[in-house]
Amino acid sequence: MNAPTQSLNVSLGARSYPIYVGSGLLNTSVAAILKQALPNAGEQIVIISNATVAEHYLKPLTDNLQSQGVSRNNIYHALMPDGESYKSLAIYGEIMDLLVKHRLNRDCTIIALGGGVVGDMAGFVAATWQRGVPFIQIPTTLLAQVDSSVGGKTAVNHPGGKNLIGAFHQPSAVVIDINTLRSLPVRELKAGLAEVIKYGVMADSNFFAWLELNMVRLLDRQPEALAHAITRSCEIKADIVAADEHENGIRALLNLGHTFGHAIEAATNYKTWLHGEAVAVGMVMAARLAVQQGYIETTHAKRIEKLIASAGLPIRPPKDMTKKTWLDLMARDKKVKQGKLRFILPTGPGRANIFSNISSEALTRLIDAL
Ligand SMILES: NC(=O)c1ccc[n+]([C@@H]2O[C@H](COP(=O)([O-])OP(=O)(O)OC[C@H]3O[C@@H](n4cnc5c(N)ncnc54)[C@H](O)[C@@H]3O)[C@@H](O)[C@H]2O)c1
Ligand SMILES: [Zn+2]
Repeated sequence: MNAPTQSLNVSLGARSYPIYVGSGLLNTSVAAILKQALPNAGEQIVIISNATVAEHYLKPLTDNLQSQGVSRNNIYHALMPDGESYKSLAIYGEIMDLLVKHRLNRDCTIIALGGGVVGDMAGFVAATWQRGVPFIQIPTTLLAQVDSSVGGKTAVNHPGGKNLIGAFHQPSAVVIDINTLRSLPVRELKAGLAEVIKYGVMADSNFFAWLELNMVRLLDRQPEALAHAITRSCEIKADIVAADEHENGIRALLNLGHTFGHAIEAATNYKTWLHGEAVAVGMVMAARLAVQQGYIETTHAKRIEKLIASAGLPIRPPKDMTKKTWLDLMARDKKVKQGKLRFILPTGPGRANIFSNISSEALTRLIDAL
């Protein structure tokens, strides 16, 4: 069986890789894609997933691999517990123990089957096992499909901070099977839509307008609408990654809404708010700050806010966040560079820019007006 036609490509010279977007790819195409992307791979395959995702998708995946000649004896599973707190060095160590126990070779292939937590962990395992082995991303949340599976950032958390321990390691292919979104909890779907909206706000006014017209279809999980939104989001991310793989410049634009969002996540101990929900509010705040600074019209900020609300996402931060909490937490954000807070602000429809000139008075005014 041949691999399907790829939907797009991430252009990174020798590290370029295809992204496939389609319905049912998990059942029909993974083995063929793997063969095409990694013609010299050895027999051994390690599937890293969690129990929630494995229950739905591990069997179709292994069936597909076996139907294309991969022996059952060469497929290994590492299932991690479900949750952000398990993106830890302890679980990383357990997976490494398993690879050692089964004597995985340098030419093995790692497959990440799951959301961003599994993808980041599997990517970091692949980046470090025997100094790096190839891996394939099969993202199963909308957030992972439009964001974390593309771009090669891999990491685990440390008690002292999120994603503190990691590496850049690009996958060899990304296989996005839209059917996997059928089982995704609706709250997770909406959280993923926040990142989709982000691409429209920062990079593509036509896509933004398309989202305004099609949000109901996306919430309805209509396959054609999802395929379009995911493909366009991946294209935008792929272009930015191709231009700035290691985030020395424009890749930072992908953090639109994230400085405020991270503060909300930290203030609520990463428990009550999903990342996408926090980013949704962060984008509303970035738009308001952009109005205050004279970069965009109020009408444009209102349009952004309306689109976010139409996805069923929050548009106001937690009421009990004090001004001090806001300022303290934002100062701790990773995006602080040379002592200066950096904000990504919209500068017009489908445009955004990086600003390091926002004064603390301006921030205080914004927070006072919440
Ligand atoms: N590497 C990057 O560039 C990058 C970018 C953004 C986010 N991230 C990371 O991604 C992580 C968040 O990812 P996420 O939002 O996908 O969360 P997640 O991986 O925790 O998945 C959310 C929940 O959905 C479940 N799930 C996954 N797929 C499912 C499916 N098809 N059906 C039913 N349930 C399903 C998961 O088991 C989990 O309970 C964070 O750790 C974040 O740091 C990384
Ligand atoms: Zn994000």
